[in-house]
Amino acid sequence: MQIDVSSANVVDVYQALVGVVTPRPIAWVTTIDREGRVNLAPFSFFNAFGANPPVVVFSPTLRRDGTKKDTLLNIEETREFVVNAAVASLAEQVNQSSAELPPGESEIALTGLHTVSSIKVKPPRVQESPVNFECKLMQIIPVGNGPISGNLVIGEVVMIHIDDAVLDGKGRADPRKLQTIARLGGDFWCRTSDLFEQKRP
Ligand SMILES: Cc1cc2nc3c(=O)[nH]c(=O)nc-3n(C[C@H](O)[C@H](O)[C@H](O)COP(=O)(O)O)c2cc1C
Repeated sequence: MQIDVSSANVVDVYQALVGVVTPRPIAWVTTIDREGRVNLAPFSFFNAFGANPPVVVFSPTLRRDGTKKDTLLNIEETREFVVNAAVASLAEQVNQSSAELPPGESEIALTGLHTVSSIKVKPPRVQESPVNFECKLMQIIPVGNGPISGNLVIGEVVMIHIDDAVLDGKGRADPRKLQTIARLGGDFWCRTSDLFEQKRP
């Protein structure tokens, strides 16, 4: 099969991308709106892109009707967000929080999760998540303006919280304890339980 992007259906192109660029880590993002109401949603167009300063990027795409998702609107307005780690014990809540609720209706209540205040930004952290990155917006780069077009939200991580329970003996996140989950194509997800080690040359 070949897909000529210039003439293909945008959903087919989307499926080809997300089915192959795998596994994708998940940013589980908390934001607040102008009234301080908390929003929570997962985004698997996500990664880290530098450590000095520490930078993360995720992409809330435009909806299929071309409108902006609440997370993007909130960050445009408040310029702050928190990336919470998506881990195996919270897989169901991560999925639940992707429900398209009307603006102002909280995914926190829907999932039964709890929030705890952040230190350097206004959006709170997900209490149950073992790692939280408090982020300040550096830049938003819209890439396109049609359905499912990306909006690269570039954030500087200004505060990192890591639960001691997921640390190794050197004070670093231990993947065997952290157990992040990731997104594949279709409705498939994966756990990070099939690990192997290689020494760098
Ligand atoms: C695991 C997972 C990953 C997702 N990744 C993305 C993504 O990278 N970009 C995106 O726009 N939507 C993604 N979604 C869908 C959003 O979470 C969904 O549209 C959500 O309702 C957006 O919430 P908001 O309108 O409150 O911002 C993902 C959903 C799931 C379950």
